[in-house]
Amino acid sequence: MKPPHPTPLLLLTALTLPSTTLSTPLSRKPLIQHFNPHRTASSPSTPLQVGNGNFAFGADITGLQTFLPWNTLATWCWHNASLPTTANQTSPADFTGLDWWTHGRLVNYDQPNPAEAEISQWMVANPQRANLGRVGLWFGGGGSNVSVGEADVEGKAQTLDMYSGRLSSGFVWKGEGVAVVTTADPFSSTVAVDIESAHLVDGGLGVFFDYPYMTGTNKFEAFVGVWNATANHTTQLVHQGPRQVRIQHDEDATTYYTTIHWSGANATVSGPAPGTHQYVLTAHGSSKLAFTVSYHSHPSPETAPFYSPSGQGTRINTDVPAITTSSSQYWRNFWEHGAFLDLTATNNASATELQRRIIQSQYILAVNEAGFDPPQESGLVNNGWYGKFHAEMFLWHLGHWGRWGRWDLVNRAMPGVYERFLPSSLERARLQGYAGARWGKMSDPTGRSAPGEINSLLLWQQPHVMHFAEYEYRSFPTRATLEKWDAVVTATAEFMASFASWNGSSGWYDLGPPCLPMSENTDANATVNPAFELAYWRFGLGVAGAWKRRLGEVAPEAWGRVAEGLAPLPVEEGTYVIYEGVRDMWDNASLTEDHQSMLGIYGWLPPQPGQFNLTIMQNTAEQVYERWNFTYSYGWDFPLVAMNAARLGDVESAVGFLLHPGFEFDDAGYQVGGARVPTPYMPGASALLWAVAMLAGGWGGSEGGQFPEGWGAVGEGFTAAL
Ligand SMILES: *[C@@H]1O[C@H](CO)[C@@H](O)[C@H](O)[C@H]1NC(C)=O
Ligand SMILES: *[C@@H]1O[C@H](CO)[C@@H](O)[C@H](O)[C@H]1NC(C)=O
Ligand SMILES: *[C@@H]1O[C@H](CO)[C@@H](O)[C@H](O)[C@H]1NC(C)=O
Ligand SMILES: *[C@@H]1O[C@H](CO)[C@@H](O)[C@H](O)[C@H]1NC(C)=O
Ligand SMILES: *[C@@H]1O[C@H](CO)[C@@H](O)[C@H](O)[C@H]1NC(C)=O
Ligand SMILES: *[C@@H]1O[C@H](CO)[C@@H](O)[C@H](O)[C@H]1NC(C)=O
Ligand SMILES: *[C@@H]1O[C@H](CO)[C@@H](O)[C@H](O)[C@H]1NC(C)=O
Ligand SMILES: *[C@@H]1O[C@H](CO)[C@@H](O)[C@H](O)[C@H]1NC(C)=O
Ligand SMILES: *[C@@H]1O[C@H](CO)[C@@H](O)[C@H](O)[C@H]1NC(C)=O
Ligand SMILES: *[C@@H]1O[C@H](CO)[C@@H](O)[C@H](O)[C@H]1NC(C)=O
Ligand SMILES: *[C@@H]1O[C@H](CO)[C@@H](O)[C@H](O)[C@H]1NC(C)=O
Ligand SMILES: *[C@@H]1O[C@H](CO)[C@@H](O)[C@H](O)[C@H]1NC(C)=O
Repeated sequence: MKPPHPTPLLLLTALTLPSTTLSTPLSRKPLIQHFNPHRTASSPSTPLQVGNGNFAFGADITGLQTFLPWNTLATWCWHNASLPTTANQTSPADFTGLDWWTHGRLVNYDQPNPAEAEISQWMVANPQRANLGRVGLWFGGGGSNVSVGEADVEGKAQTLDMYSGRLSSGFVWKGEGVAVVTTADPFSSTVAVDIESAHLVDGGLGVFFDYPYMTGTNKFEAFVGVWNATANHTTQLVHQGPRQVRIQHDEDATTYYTTIHWSGANATVSGPAPGTHQYVLTAHGSSKLAFTVSYHSHPSPETAPFYSPSGQGTRINTDVPAITTSSSQYWRNFWEHGAFLDLTATNNASATELQRRIIQSQYILAVNEAGFDPPQESGLVNNGWYGKFHAEMFLWHLGHWGRWGRWDLVNRAMPGVYERFLPSSLERARLQGYAGARWGKMSDPTGRSAPGEINSLLLWQQPHVMHFAEYEYRSFPTRATLEKWDAVVTATAEFMASFASWNGSSGWYDLGPPCLPMSENTDANATVNPAFELAYWRFGLGVAGAWKRRLGEVAPEAWGRVAEGLAPLPVEEGTYVIYEGVRDMWDNASLTEDHQSMLGIYGWLPPQPGQFNLTIMQNTAEQVYERWNFTYSYGWDFPLVAMNAARLGDVESAVGFLLHPGFEFDDAGYQVGGARVPTPYMPGASALLWAVAMLAGGWGGSEGGQFPEGWGAVGEGFTAAL
């Protein structure tokens, strides 16, 4: 297969002519495989994974979930714990939220109401994403289960081949080797496993399957579910066919199925062992056992809602060699299409480390963050925030796919998620007395936004719609793109224009109060005209107006009037500050430690003419470098600051921020969350790719690669940022 070349190959060094073209395409495969993760022991903080963006299987050193109960998570399986039984709090319909004064009137916000604390908390914690189950090696000593831990096996070695999605693991137990190859079906929630060991022949080694119970009690869960609440849920073998069994798992209203299919050996499935939900697969008379484990919500394995929430089915593949082939093709296609960057020409250690982060992040994000719903914070590794996904993070999580030319992955969720959430978002705005659609924040697949003060008052998720739409239009400037996004762009702009409030004494339109800025660390009732949000409102309304003009329509007059009439960006002592009227921001430790929101105005966003002043921005960046508490920073803070440094012309600092000691990636490329967010923290990795795409493609006015002199960076397929 020949890789496409959307743009000529460019030698991406700031001081080299950007039009230098190379005659041959980059050879991607050796560079990708050079960074294949290798392990000799399980990591306590991250698995190695196989998956497809909607489904992921986390493995320990055995290639399965033998010693550590890593999760098997999918976009489609959710669970509700039982509802509270306290009077007047027995259903989400009983939740009333709180009324806050908002520009002289009471507006209702979805915030936990102390008088209805139980149902408020239930709505925060439910539904939660369900762990589909655990698959591990079962060690039989003379036919009965014996306890074996990671310390009891020797010679452990594991390699993840990112180019084929193939995880190969091996170790020695009682003098005999055990080899396990794990892959995932690209098109269903199926993991394929190939085991070879002399221990299989007499049933000395088998495979167990187990099921947890979901509770919604933990906001962050590394190993998801409770394994010993066995009486609270049921499993049963509902089908036994030749070389195949099916297990039904019922936990409250959630029911799903596991189909286990084997080949290469005669085998049997027994179980569950009394008082457990454990089933054991053992082979007879063969040292090879190949099997697939498919999770599906429909009782028939032939159809499992996968790529689309409307239930468009895909046939489950139960053939191990076919899945291995399909996985190889899928990943080769993934790597050989889209943009690519080679930073290895000069063996500069910083460039090589950035290259590792870029390649490993792309694999990890394609496994965890390419579903029909936007991803949660820890992807499909862990459950953070009960597995829910946050609307202000949509752009960080998914925008980079488009910037790297992988529009098929953007399109799995976009704009479908906005279209599905449009009715409830129109209703949210209507109930609050605004026009258009107000997008929620911490979401489950129904589009309900979890109660919360921050959840109900944050603003910057709104213009993301225009950001997604505008980038898509730049790549596909067609009427189809305009029509595809028109309804959600229009509804978003209508809300944004009606949310801005005319201030007769200043003569400007104000945002808030109450509202919360990107950094979420101010008093919402005192927060007016946050700097970043003013710029983003102007950008979003500008795109919406252009959208209508491109469609040959006339934009509502209010959109332009509000965009041009927004309050000026707040300035104190010659720098931009978080919001208008904030007191002594630079001397207040609690206001100089969270997201560096002011820097997003110039970097992440293009400058808005008539609103932006470069001198003030330069002063602001200098103050941030000097005064900000970067020890407190995490994840996407570093790419945010890097993009600002790049746009200010300081490419050395930009790459320096992407390699900052506070911005860590582990041995397999998982971004380390640190003290404030869980590990892995996926928005850190996806923001890295967004920032790197900007360095590789340049931006309006500075098109072409922007990497340090001497790196000899070579890229293909990148386009300039806005
Ligand atoms: C959980 O309950 C909510 C509210 O009753 C409902 O809308 C949703 O469909 C339920 N989800 C699941 C997975 O049961
Ligand atoms: C709460 O429920 C009780 C019992 O059903 C009822 O008498 C009472 O009026 C309800 N209170 C409110 C505020 O709805
Ligand atoms: C904001 O004002 C509302 C009243 O409009 C009040 O109920 C709420 O507690 C205030 N919030 C904060 C954080 O002070
Ligand atoms: C096997 O033994 C382990 C460790 O003692 C135990 O946790 C597990 O539940 C057992 N599994 C079965 C299927 O008996
Ligand atoms: C399950 O394990 C937890 C944690 O070890 C323990 O607190 C709880 O009592 C156990 N529950 C049952 C039903 O055994
Ligand atoms: C299991 O059910 C029992 C009885 O309803 C309940 O008391 C217990 O809290 C449940 N366990 C979990 C982990 O939810
Ligand atoms: C499976 O069992 C059948 C019948 O006992 C036997 O003929 C066949 O050779 C076995 N297959 C394998 C792969 O062991
Ligand atoms: C209008 O703007 C002025 C100056 O910025 C500010 O002091 C005042 O609080 C604003 N009025 C309202 C109603 O928000
Ligand atoms: C610092 O900012 C926080 C958050 O707005 C505020 O609560 C606190 O009073 C400020 N501290 C000082 C000394 O102004
Ligand atoms: C930008 O701000 C600086 C410092 O306040 C000021 O001197 C300059 O005139 C401003 N530039 C423009 C174009 O407004
Ligand atoms: C900076 O943040 C770190 C980590 O939260 C904290 O320990 C430290 O006290 C902060 N430093 C200042 C000056 O506030
Ligand atoms: C690697 O590149 C960085 C960024 O330009 C530079 O600061 C550093 O000196 C280079 N290292 C070597 C050994 O050339």
